[in-house]
Amino acid sequence: MKRKPSAWIAVLLVVAMAFSGCTKKGADPTPTPVPTEEITPTPTEEPTPTPDPKSEWDDKFLKDRYDGVFKIGVALSSQTIRNVKAMEIVKNEFNSFTFGNEMKAENLLDQAATLAGYPDTNTEPVLKFIGIQNGLTFAMNNGYGVRGHTLCWYSQTPAWFFTEDYKAGSPLCSREVMLARLESYIRQVMEYCQTNYPGVIYAWDVVNEAVDPQTGDENYIRKGKNLWYETIGPDFIQYAFEYARKYSDGTADLYYNDYNCYEKTDWILKALAPIKEAGNIDGIGMQCHLSTGDNIQNHVYKVAKKFSDAGYKVEITELDITVTDSGYADKMQSMKYKLVFQYMEQAKLNGEIDIDSVTIWGLSDTDSWRSSQKPVLYKSAGSQFERKPAWYGAMQDPSIDAFEW
Ligand code: GLA
Repeated sequence: MKRKPSAWIAVLLVVAMAFSGCTKKGADPTPTPVPTEEITPTPTEEPTPTPDPKSEWDDKFLKDRYDGVFKIGVALSSQTIRNVKAMEIVKNEFNSFTFGNEMKAENLLDQAATLAGYPDTNTEPVLKFIGIQNGLTFAMNNGYGVRGHTLCWYSQTPAWFFTEDYKAGSPLCSREVMLARLESYIRQVMEYCQTNYPGVIYAWDVVNEAVDPQTGDENYIRKGKNLWYETIGPDFIQYAFEYARKYSDGTADLYYNDYNCYEKTDWILKALAPIKEAGNIDGIGMQCHLSTGDNIQNHVYKVAKKFSDAGYKVEITELDITVTDSGYADKMQSMKYKLVFQYMEQAKLNGEIDIDSVTIWGLSDTDSWRSSQKPVLYKSAGSQFERKPAWYGAMQDPSIDAFEW
């Protein structure tokens, strides 16, 4: 018998309801177990790329991670400052920088102009500031702090600056003349920065690396190959700080800066004691050129704590951690970076150490002074920059172990 179309529609509706689970309100549908079947994925020609597990970090940056704790700095060359891509990263990651070389005496002293003006320039050397202008302007326009590095150092200060007539090879000048040159040099550099870029420099490395057990005198004050010592004597350090305090407008702290502080902690404190007594120093910069073999607790944290307990502010001024060519190199390096940041952040937050900044000595391994040992947070090729595991360590990524033995 032929069914009417309406009868067919009714049958279809019942079947559809049964399949859609759309049963009568209130009824408890009993699930029918469906036999499971292994599904073999059909290989596609283009494998789907694995999503980058770190992508959640893409819009996270060091300076924000440590906002309110300490500034995060980087050493820059004027070449890097002209590199647009590099500066994009610098703008995101850092809020402080240090000139790698441009603010050192060998680059600020103008020998030709000094010679041309001699003997009027005998105690007033001529300086040129062209090499630091773009960096300081960038800093001022973008709200960066700058570490002034460095006013008095035995190295990268030309030998001609210490001679009677400003010519290399001539006899060294007297203590009085050299003190006058030191004072003039410090005054000119500080005044130039304070007048033209007010408030930009927040710390001056007044004296760099003056304590050295190998070439030092009986107090370990660096004597060998140190023309400051040879012309002035061991108290050149005290005079440098005295002049820096005299010409400072008070917007920057005055620092003594050195490497391997763990080897010479007590000697550094001894050398600085009279300067502290005179009120001419605020802090100690620990360079921290480390390697993955170094124990961070002993080489960094405990030393910083000792300086802090002696009444000094502390900054980590030139941090880099070299790796040895082992299979675990990246892992070790990220762990060590994590430890440095962990110790310093905790010490700052619990009021143990008054630390204002941590500066990484270079933006990428390529432009590091120890580039073959890949010591910093980025790697780069041309204009491509990439964060290394070390960067995640510095961010204290919870997935990175941080322990040492
Ligand atoms: C020392 C100086 C720095 C820099 C490094 C090497 O640590 O303080 O300015 O010259 O050596 O790059």
